[in-house]
Amino acid sequence: MNNRLIDLYKKEFKSNPEKYFMSPCRINLIGEHTDYNAGLVLPAAISKYIHAVVGKRNDKKIHLKSLNKLGDVEVDLDKVSNSPENKWGNYPLGIFATLQKRGYKLPFGLNIIYSSNVPIASGLSSSASMLDLTAFIASVMYNIPLPNDEIALLAHQSETEFNGLQCGIMDEFAIALGKKNKCIFLDCGTNKFTYEDVDFKDLSLVVIVSNVKRALIASPYNQRVAECNKSLDILKKHFSIKSLSDLKVSDLDECKKLLSNDILYRRTKHVVSENQRVKDFIEASKVGNVEKMCDLLNKSHESLRDDYEVTGEYLDYLHDISLKYGAYAERMTGAGFGGSSIAVIKKGDFEVFRQEIINAFYSKYRIKPLVFLADICDGLMVKDIKVNKK
Ligand code: GLA
Repeated sequence: MNNRLIDLYKKEFKSNPEKYFMSPCRINLIGEHTDYNAGLVLPAAISKYIHAVVGKRNDKKIHLKSLNKLGDVEVDLDKVSNSPENKWGNYPLGIFATLQKRGYKLPFGLNIIYSSNVPIASGLSSSASMLDLTAFIASVMYNIPLPNDEIALLAHQSETEFNGLQCGIMDEFAIALGKKNKCIFLDCGTNKFTYEDVDFKDLSLVVIVSNVKRALIASPYNQRVAECNKSLDILKKHFSIKSLSDLKVSDLDECKKLLSNDILYRRTKHVVSENQRVKDFIEASKVGNVEKMCDLLNKSHESLRDDYEVTGEYLDYLHDISLKYGAYAERMTGAGFGGSSIAVIKKGDFEVFRQEIINAFYSKYRIKPLVFLADICDGLMVKDIKVNKK
C-alpha cells in the first residue's frame, strides 16, 4: 500500500478511505492483432500497477483525482457523459455510465484517487488497467458481484461504447484474469481460456518500453480493424467463416486470388498465420522447445512489420538492436505504432543488455527506453484500509 495516497485522500476529502485497490498491466507473448478477429492470444499480467484509494460519498457525485494527470474530475452520477471537460476522467467514468446502461442502480457517489507507476500510453495497456480497476472498484463498492471475466467484459464494453475505440478483449482479460507465473491462452472467439506455464528455461523474458508516445485512437488501429472487416466481407462469400480466424494457413493461396487488393491479403495473411503461431508456440512450450518458441516470436514481429505494418521505425529498431545485442527473440507487444516490446535473453545478461539497449536507442532518438525483467503476477487486488482510532 502507498501510504502517501491514503494520506492525500484524508487531506483532500477530510474523511477516511475504505479500500485500497491495485490493477496490473499486461504484456502479450504472442497473438497480436488477432483478438478483434476472434483469434488466439497469449498475454500475461505484469507487476506494474495502477493503485487507487476509494471511499463513499454522501451525495451522488463521482470525484476522481490522479497523481499522474492534471486536474480533478467531478461528475454527477445521473449525468455521466463523454465530454472533453472530463479529460482523462472519460476513461473511468465510462464504467459508471455502462453499469447504469446495464440497469444497475448506483445509489451513492465515490471519491477515487489513482496513482500509477506505469508509463502512460506505453503499450502495456495502462488504459485497460484503469478500466478494469474502476470496474472492480464499482463492483466492490456497490456490491455488484461480478466474476473477473465479467469485469473484463464490462471494461471492454465501456472502452468500445463510451470511449469509441474498436479494440479487442485481450487487454481487459489479461489484467482481470492475471495469475502469478501463468500466461493466459485465450480464444477471443469464445472467451474460453486456460492458464499456461511458459518456461524459457535458462532464458529470461524482458520488457522494453520505448517511451515513444502514441495515441491509440488517432493511430491506424481502427483502420486495421476496418481492413480486416473488409477482407472478411469479401471472403465470407466464398468460405463458410464468421471471422478471419476461421481460416487456415492452407486457405491463404485461395484468399490471395479472391482478394485482389494486396493490402487486404497481407492483413489477412498476418491474422491467419499469427493464430497458427500461437498454437505452435503453445505446442513448443509444452515440450520445452525454447528455440522454436523464440523463432515464433521473431516471426510474429516480422509478420507485424511486413504484412500488418504496425511496428513502425522505433519498434523495428528495438527489434534489430535487441537481436544484435544477443537477444534470442524480440517482438513488439500490444498495438504497436511505438509502445513496447518483449525480448528473450540469456539469464544473467540482463544488466549488460539493458544498458546496451538504452545507449543505442538514446543515441539514435534521444529517448531513453525503460527496460525491466518481466514479473508475471496476479490480477486485480483489494484490501481494507484500517483506520487508527485515536
Ligand atoms: C491493443 C488493443 C488489444 C489488441 C492489441 C493488439 O493493445 O487494446 O485489444 O488488439 O492492441 O494485439
